[in-house]
Amino acid sequence: MKLLQVSSAILAASCASATAIKRRQGGGGFEDGQPSDGNGKGAPILGGTNHQIDLQNPDNLGRQSTDAGVVPNLKWSFSDSRTRILTGGWVREQVVTDLPSSHDIAGAQQHLTKGSIRELHWHRVAEWGYVYAGSILISAVNEDGQFEYAKLEEGDIWYFPKGAAHTVQGLEDDNEFLLIFDDGNFDAVGTTFNVDDWITHTPKSVLAKNFGLPESVFGSVPSPNPYILPATLDAHNVTGGNGQLRGNASYAYYAKDHPLETVPGEGGTLRIVDSTTFPVAKTIAATVVTLSPGGLRELHWHPNGSPLRFQTPKPLV
Ligand SMILES: *[C@@H]1O[C@H](CO)[C@@H](O)[C@H](O)[C@H]1NC(C)=O
Ligand SMILES: *[C@@H]1O[C@H](CO)[C@@H](O)[C@H](O)[C@H]1NC(C)=O
Repeated sequence: MKLLQVSSAILAASCASATAIKRRQGGGGFEDGQPSDGNGKGAPILGGTNHQIDLQNPDNLGRQSTDAGVVPNLKWSFSDSRTRILTGGWVREQVVTDLPSSHDIAGAQQHLTKGSIRELHWHRVAEWGYVYAGSILISAVNEDGQFEYAKLEEGDIWYFPKGAAHTVQGLEDDNEFLLIFDDGNFDAVGTTFNVDDWITHTPKSVLAKNFGLPESVFGSVPSPNPYILPATLDAHNVTGGNGQLRGNASYAYYAKDHPLETVPGEGGTLRIVDSTTFPVAKTIAATVVTLSPGGLRELHWHPNGSPLRFQTPKPLV
């Protein structure tokens, strides 16, 4: 079981820390982006640095005096990922080669404009998603031909077990979501299978015979792996002979059915999304946490899984 924490420190918290940093600036110490505690430990950096990143990461400069030994890198900023831009959106990933400590969980952010579709594909790993802006339409079909077609809004979550074929389509002008995969090596060859990739690499004569259609039907198949395709919204209803995935079999989790809980310590709110509240999500569990200004998620660890935390500056739904 992989654990994910989606958290948000509300705006007042960032304002408070900005004021504190401003007050202490000017002394040539950590808050000025220098590895120096002002008491004889450390010295300024004279070159070969990115001062803006140093300013954002005073703990990397040694501010945390209780650190001991070699501290491995435990964080990755999506801003350091290469963004793949496409007509209809973009995607940027964090995989094990970006953050070696995250060997069994990988992440991505994806944006879809209205109507644009992440093409039909599936993975040899499970996919977990969290909508943090806009709304989307997910469609999926499992190996038994059972399907799901669901509209998800901000705060909603989905889970596609490995092998379940799926698409994601944007419904608002702009839509964005976090994707989590239960394998850190998500870019390994053979992890994702795009149906279009197969179709474009198959002779049209074979496709025509296979589907019982004229070859011309396959004349405008997009180039291999278009990844995101611009499209228009369609009002047709989806049907399938083997039925819809509903109830505990559903790949969709709706935040409106599970309000954020107030925690006993009163420092924020919490919503646990694990297999007791979202039964299909067998390999990825999540907590959605909002921290009030000064709120602290108490000292804890996860003996049975490696956690990954995604921070959003937006209040969570
Ligand atoms: C789709 O299904 C809904 C609910 O059954 C129905 O109200 C609607 O008319 C259907 N739309 C189309 C285009 O068939
Ligand atoms: C659905 O899953 C929950 C949690 O695992 C369980 O308590 C409940 O009995 C299940 N419902 C059905 C209809 O199987």
